[in-house]
Amino acid sequence: MNKTKIIHVNPLCFSQQELAEGGRLLREGKLVVFPTETVYGLGANALDGEACKAIYTAKGRPADNPLIVHLPDLSGLEQLCRLIPQKAYELFEAYSPGPLTVILPKRECVPEAVTCGLDTVAIRIPSHPVAAALLREARVPVAAPSANRSGRPSPTRLSHVVEDLDGLVDLMIDGGECGVGLESTVVSLAGERPVLLRPGGISLKMLEQVLGEVEVDRAVTGQLAEGQRPQAPGMKYRHYAPKAQLTLGHGDPAALRQWLIACSEQENVGILCYEEDVAAFPHAAHVVSLGRRDDLEAQAHALFDALRSFDETGVSAIFGPLPEMEGIGLAVRNRLLKAAGHRVVEL
Ligand code: TXA
Ligand code: MG
Repeated sequence: MNKTKIIHVNPLCFSQQELAEGGRLLREGKLVVFPTETVYGLGANALDGEACKAIYTAKGRPADNPLIVHLPDLSGLEQLCRLIPQKAYELFEAYSPGPLTVILPKRECVPEAVTCGLDTVAIRIPSHPVAAALLREARVPVAAPSANRSGRPSPTRLSHVVEDLDGLVDLMIDGGECGVGLESTVVSLAGERPVLLRPGGISLKMLEQVLGEVEVDRAVTGQLAEGQRPQAPGMKYRHYAPKAQLTLGHGDPAALRQWLIACSEQENVGILCYEEDVAAFPHAAHVVSLGRRDDLEAQAHALFDALRSFDETGVSAIFGPLPEMEGIGLAVRNRLLKAAGHRVVEL
């Protein structure tokens, strides 16, 4: 394949007919990129093992990192999952469609290429109107990882996808910028107790309102020791990484600002900072705002675009803040820690 077709769909005003070709291509085993409320996804028919294998090739994805299966609503759940606890229905009821993925025991019809040998499958019902319309049109469940080359920050607008995957997929559907900006919350209900595997737009507190106590996998906040495994295989990879080394500073606002000013005086440095501080680094080669310090949603929305922007400027090192853990801040912190390879300076 060498030519990728791009179509533009206005999420606020479109007809179901505009997704007909995308739906047909998915049924035929082709690769289709589509917008979701979190990040862009790279979709294939989840019941077609060969089509799903093509996702790994296009992304350069390690073969042990399973895919999330997307459904338009709950009606397809029992076809894919063997055991569905009442709490799973309650959780979907509370937060789906939306940025939530639930891990459940799988049925045999789910191909090996989706689950990489695990006996569980990840299920998500996206709320983005274009994603929902495409899934209805496809009439098959759609396996879709984020539509980036493996290791790169997830794409939050189509230009990011084109940078990474042009010529490697059959169709890209442009639906503008993704709202949340970070991938979905992943929670496992396949074991005895619920476990948060990846933080996202549905916060730990929101999960606990429905599930009671939720264990947090160590990979979410800490660096895993050699040989330790996260429960979501994808969480072990260095990820979201800009080309230059990112170092995070952890301290109160004044200490952080002073540290960033000192760092910015080195040659050819990139600074990632809160909106309030953007004017403080006249010597830096490239300064990017992450959003206001108290606006965690804005930070989630801005993060991946900010990380990608450093690559265009060719800076040789990047310095930024380590966010607090409240709400979606836990997800922003988790992605930044991974982008930095856990390099943190205590101030
Ligand atoms: O927001 C999202 O979730 C986006 C959009 C496109 O829906 N998708 C996404 O997919 O982020 P991906 O492949 O980039 O991340 C999926 C994560 C990985 O960390 C993977 O290891 C984990 O979910 N995962 C998938 N199936 C799993 C399973 N059965 N057990 C544990 N973890 C699983
Ligand atoms: Mg990904």
